[in-house]
Amino acid sequence: MLTVMEAIEKRRSIRKFKPDPVPDELINQILEAARLAPSASNRQPWRFQIIKDPEEKERVFRETTFGARHVFEAPVVIVCGSELLTFVKGHKMAPPGSEYFGADSDDWESIKEFIPDAQLNTAIAVEHMVLAGTALGLGTCYAQRLRFGQIARILGWPRHITVFTLLLVGYADEDPAPRPRLPLEDIVLKEGNIPQ
Ligand SMILES: Cc1cc2nc3c(=O)[nH]c(=O)nc-3n(C[C@H](O)[C@H](O)[C@H](O)COP(=O)(O)O)c2cc1C
Repeated sequence: MLTVMEAIEKRRSIRKFKPDPVPDELINQILEAARLAPSASNRQPWRFQIIKDPEEKERVFRETTFGARHVFEAPVVIVCGSELLTFVKGHKMAPPGSEYFGADSDDWESIKEFIPDAQLNTAIAVEHMVLAGTALGLGTCYAQRLRFGQIARILGWPRHITVFTLLLVGYADEDPAPRPRLPLEDIVLKEGNIPQ
């Protein structure tokens, strides 16, 4: 098994997948990595739906992905979203003791204010899945330019469970070179070099 740092260095966005199925055992390990992610007030807003069946993929993604080929080629698509009711103070879906922060009611106008928080928490869990997948020998790719509202409706998710990204998972059929990154001095701000 790779160390965390090795997985971080090895990970690439994979857009070409082998057709080989991914064992459920590995998918469960990836989901377990998400389940253990940190979240503000321990709200754990992330929710996931696994789509593997080609007919189901066709039904959910035909009209919603602007023809993104890799969504159909990936053997596993994880629809990643957030349960916004976990951000409602005192709600049964919110963890105990988290009343100091959150929406005052579960009406849409109140809870939609918490979409950025929900997205941040969910993104952490999704990246846990990405790194776990890498360590397990799998390739992954986020897929973002999609009709998320429509995907949620097709899947029957209510408005308070919001889709944020798809995570494509499978065995890589490509070995991309590392994509460029900014040097540290461009991303670490220090007194004296803060761009104005
Ligand atoms: C939030 C997010 C959304 C992304 N959306 C897409 C996408 O819709 N389609 C795609 O092919 N790649 C997508 N990517 C992958 C990025 O293009 C990729 O991470 C970046 O180019 C760096 O390459 P690397 O991941 O191989 O290091 C996304 C990545 C992130 C983190």
